[in-house]
Amino acid sequence: MAICARPIDAFTKAGRGAKLHSMRQDPNDTPLPTADSYLADRCLPADASSIAEAARILRAGGLVAFPTETVYGLGADATSDIAVAKIYAAKGRPAFNPLIAHVEDLAAARQQGIFTSEAEALAKAFWPGPLTLVLPIAPTGNVCALARAGLDSVALRVPAHETTRRLLAATGLPIAAPSANISGHVSPVTAAHVAEDLDGRVDLILDAGPCPVGVESTIISCLKNGPTLLRPGGISREAIEAVLGRKLADHAGGKAVLAPGQLASHYAPRASLRLAATSLEPGEAGLDFGGRFPKAANVLDLSPRGDTTEAAANLFSHLRVLDARGFATIAVAPIPSTGLGEAINDRLKRAAAERPGAQ
Ligand code: TXA
Ligand code: MG
Repeated sequence: MAICARPIDAFTKAGRGAKLHSMRQDPNDTPLPTADSYLADRCLPADASSIAEAARILRAGGLVAFPTETVYGLGADATSDIAVAKIYAAKGRPAFNPLIAHVEDLAAARQQGIFTSEAEALAKAFWPGPLTLVLPIAPTGNVCALARAGLDSVALRVPAHETTRRLLAATGLPIAAPSANISGHVSPVTAAHVAEDLDGRVDLILDAGPCPVGVESTIISCLKNGPTLLRPGGISREAIEAVLGRKLADHAGGKAVLAPGQLASHYAPRASLRLAATSLEPGEAGLDFGGRFPKAANVLDLSPRGDTTEAAANLFSHLRVLDARGFATIAVAPIPSTGLGEAINDRLKRAAAERPGAQ
């Protein structure tokens, strides 16, 4: 029996149940499995045998949570409407939000989407890596309609993480995978985060430790109007513009829900966030950047040295830790919008948004 690596204390036998109970809103939820049954059955360190097991589950239409370099994904066979429906059900995700299909390499991506020369240049520069391209569907494409939310375009990504690559090779299928959290929650960057949200709703969690990038992929649409930034993410705008040799258009926020997080309060923690805070108010937790707040138990610094790449890697973990401590408000220090700062500020803005129906 394999034991899951334990990236945070939520996985200690004493701590996990209590932590999970404290995250649940509905006291009438079905009882939690014991730590032992969970550790034995549902979460395995990523190695040759667990990856083979994960591939078997995916080919049979099941759900597997797996690490990528950005965040953990909740994967299913992207060619099967029935398998993809399980993703929407597990996440409680609105069905109009299309999913990214993860593929092994550029050749596999060309089977699914029609590349313009600019899309090709971006793929060559940034794949494998945290870039997603939205392309018109190719005649040979087999990503199912549900994964595309009925659109005639498809979102494609070739991930760089060793485990994801081995899983894609073993499965031989495009894998549809949103972030492995309940819809609207903070994205998971460890296997423990996945378990907090999705335990009991997924057939297997592969654990390969924390995700190195820590924010989701940058999404660029390469449809009729030329390259357009739909979501800032793990590859900076500057890096993409350098390859294109011109400025990227920004998505105008039109009527169709094509970009992520256009739903209010995407990525939301329970605490409310006070952004661009230059000092801490009494009783607040602090999410610091560059050592602006005084060092204290209620303060976590995303990057004491002021580096946006390091801050991105820490963003979702630090938010979860502070949120779990029960503060009503988390004050967030100003973060520059350069490099991955644009993606960080985008996530923070959504996390701070009013929640529909919130008290
Ligand atoms: O880093 C990532 O991108 C992670 C890992 C698991 O790969 N995945 C991820 O997926 O963040 P998700 O589902 O949380 O965000 C994907 C977003 C969707 O919200 C959707 O708006 C956009 O991609 N998308 C997918 N297909 C699209 C399409 N055909 N047109 C426009 N946007 C699309
Ligand atoms: Mg997500």
